[in-house]
Amino acid sequence: MPGVEAVGAVLRELGAPLVVESIQLDEVTSHEVRVRVHASGVCRSDLTVAHADHGFPLPLMLGHEIAGTVEAIGSAVRGIAVGDHVVACPVNHCGRCARCRNGQPFLCHDHHATARTSEQASRVSVAGESVTQFIGIGGFADRVVLHENLVVPIPHEVPFDVACLLGCGVSTGLGAVLNTAGVTHGDTVVVVGCGGVGLNAVQGARIAGARRIIAIDLNDEALRLATELGATDVINSSYGDPVAEVKRVTNGLGVTHAFEIIGRPETLEIALASLGKGGSAYLVGVQKPDAILGIPFRHFFDQKSVHGVAMGSTIPQIHIPEYAELYLQGRLRLDELVANRITLAEVNEGLDRLRTGGVARSVILFE
Ligand code: APR
Ligand code: ZN
Ligand code: ZN
Repeated sequence: MPGVEAVGAVLRELGAPLVVESIQLDEVTSHEVRVRVHASGVCRSDLTVAHADHGFPLPLMLGHEIAGTVEAIGSAVRGIAVGDHVVACPVNHCGRCARCRNGQPFLCHDHHATARTSEQASRVSVAGESVTQFIGIGGFADRVVLHENLVVPIPHEVPFDVACLLGCGVSTGLGAVLNTAGVTHGDTVVVVGCGGVGLNAVQGARIAGARRIIAIDLNDEALRLATELGATDVINSSYGDPVAEVKRVTNGLGVTHAFEIIGRPETLEIALASLGKGGSAYLVGVQKPDAILGIPFRHFFDQKSVHGVAMGSTIPQIHIPEYAELYLQGRLRLDELVANRITLAEVNEGLDRLRTGGVARSVILFE
């Protein structure tokens, strides 16, 4: 079978370390793009999926936050050329359904359209065995084959090690604030959980011109970064009741928007209790699909609401170039978000660092 040799870190057993091995990539078909990966961020959802069954068949190639150079394109690909610098964004969308045509590709009715069919050869395999690409990307590898709808060209001036963050951490956090919630000047914002995603929610609120941006976390280093990136107030919730403090700094009113960016019932409760009457909470944190969030009725008497958030309501082809431009203007800060630069062989340490409460991102760099 013609194809391309590559190297990737494969999950063969839930909870076991990833194994770095030779992988084979199939040739690109008409709507696909092959990317030489230069940087791949290690995101919390990679860790989550490595440890519990979320329905992705094994062996599985994790990683979904990549930046690199286009090496090959299929015959039908338009707007992406060999040599382009690109970011991959896991908003799998068909481009044709009512949601896509309505500008909501993150709610696509046919998001499997970007995958190959079962009759086609797998894009990734090891010695003839198919390897699943996590959310259409599978980016812990030095080369990937992707559907063109997930690939967005960016200016050459944006370094790869920060560009990769645009694909998930930035899109999710910034997008929740700017696109899903539409925060604007005069709004008051709480962000609960200031890691790789939450710090971008803080930045989104700053870029939107929010009047007050209150960051809540258990980790002082996370809160230090939050201040650097635009928080006006920080609260370490391990020292006391964060809601009382939110009420104090908002003159007893509570905030207009609260973002939960961890995925736990108790932190959603902090978000809801921090809201003023009629306020809106956004659940960005992710849990196993069948996890239950108990929410006290009292919040709804005050006409509060809780919104789900799908990938920061990102329209990749519109928002990623915007975010890249904001970075080049110095208005979106990305360098501060990269805590560690590691090799593919160190991917398991990168995942462990998330578990032990690391701050911001580890990014895998390829030669
Ligand atoms: N109270 C306050 N802060 C907490 C708590 C808690 N009970 N538990 C964890 N945190 C903080 C951590 O200290 C850390 O700063 O939440 C932050 C989580 O950040 P990361 O581990 O970097 O996770 P991140 O990649 O930002 O993802 C957060 O969003 O998209 C989802 O799947 C993702 O559910 C995950 C969430
Ligand atoms: Zn669609
Ligand atoms: Zn992610």
